[in-house]
Amino acid sequence: MLDKSPPPPAVSVPNDLAAFWMPYTANRAFKRAPRMLAGAKDMHYFTTDGRKILDAAAGMWCSNAGHGRSQISAAIAKQAETLDYAPPFQFGIPQAFELASRIAELAPAGLDHVFFCNSGSEAADTALKIALAFHQIQGQGTRTRLIGRERGYHGVGFGGTSVGGIVNVIVEPMAGSTGVLPAPKGYLKRLREITQKHGILLIFDEVITGYGRLGYAFAAERYGVLPDMITFAKGITNGAAPMGGVIVRDTIHDAFMSGRDHVVELTHGYTYSAHPLACAAGLATLDIYRDEKLFERANKLEPKFADAVMSLKGEPNVVDIRTVGLTAGIDLAPRAEQPGKRGFDSLNSAFHDNDLMLRIAGDTLALTPPLIVSEDQIGEIIDKVAKVIRAVA
Ligand SMILES: Cc1ncc(COP(=O)(O)O)c(C=O)c1O
Repeated sequence: MLDKSPPPPAVSVPNDLAAFWMPYTANRAFKRAPRMLAGAKDMHYFTTDGRKILDAAAGMWCSNAGHGRSQISAAIAKQAETLDYAPPFQFGIPQAFELASRIAELAPAGLDHVFFCNSGSEAADTALKIALAFHQIQGQGTRTRLIGRERGYHGVGFGGTSVGGIVNVIVEPMAGSTGVLPAPKGYLKRLREITQKHGILLIFDEVITGYGRLGYAFAAERYGVLPDMITFAKGITNGAAPMGGVIVRDTIHDAFMSGRDHVVELTHGYTYSAHPLACAAGLATLDIYRDEKLFERANKLEPKFADAVMSLKGEPNVVDIRTVGLTAGIDLAPRAEQPGKRGFDSLNSAFHDNDLMLRIAGDTLALTPPLIVSEDQIGEIIDKVAKVIRAVA
């Protein structure tokens, strides 16, 4: 059903946009024509000038349960009043243990231990650090090489950026941020066989693919492949609080649990690891995913979503379309000598002229709606995207 509720009133915007150096943003272009957001509910964002924007991006692959979920905000508010902060080094809070157990339950059997951090980048760095330390414990300290894949994206930490490339392989089961590139059939299974044969640890970066995006709790389940570690972030809290983490295989975790028991086993962690507000948000989010069967919903919608996106094939400059789960990448031919410009124009046309939020990677348009998207809304997204593609032709 289309949401016909009225948008909230306009919100005032500061006159001076200079001080905030925006992340991963064309700052000068943004500040000339700001894409400014003031609120969000379910499938929509609301702009500061009171427009309603259909969210075809789940924010940034985060808000799988849609926006403004009161169950999550209430859990965060209650947590903030009860226990705002607790040191995660040498102290614990019950919610962190409960959330770790819930995540381990969702993960493939054998991946039973969770190390919390605050983002996907920190999760990549943490997983790589665990891998290197594990090899040291095993007496294989010379195994220090990290492998990534071309067009992989694992965040902006030094560890994550270094694996854009043998001892650890980090791979996204579907490369998301660089343009929605699903793994070829059988690729991940073969990768597991090869890494196993050579004693190489396999890390799945599920920052995007985790928590239902591909119709399963994790892509590892969808593809029937058991990695040694899974990194996650984004969907764990529905985007409502920063949180990331690494799910670690028992054999790796257990290897650290030796030596004198007053000694820290892994000299790693963050001041905000397992932050109480993020744990509360995570628990409430997992409740929603479970109660509303959102992973199954994504799975059921996948063929309909794919058919709808494929209907864009004949639109001008469309050179390729890929879909997997509730995710699509639409490659547009670049403008002559201006790579990325057609994509950037699409972002603006979508937001300013068509009340649509999408993501871009160069000249690729990425559609990754919240998993609550209705069939009507899929149709609405596709109509709007067609208008955008024609507008930038
Ligand atoms: C696959 C993948 N890994 C890691 C990251 C980095 O996550 P964060 O921005 O939370 O550090 C991203 C961000 O989009 C991602 O897509």
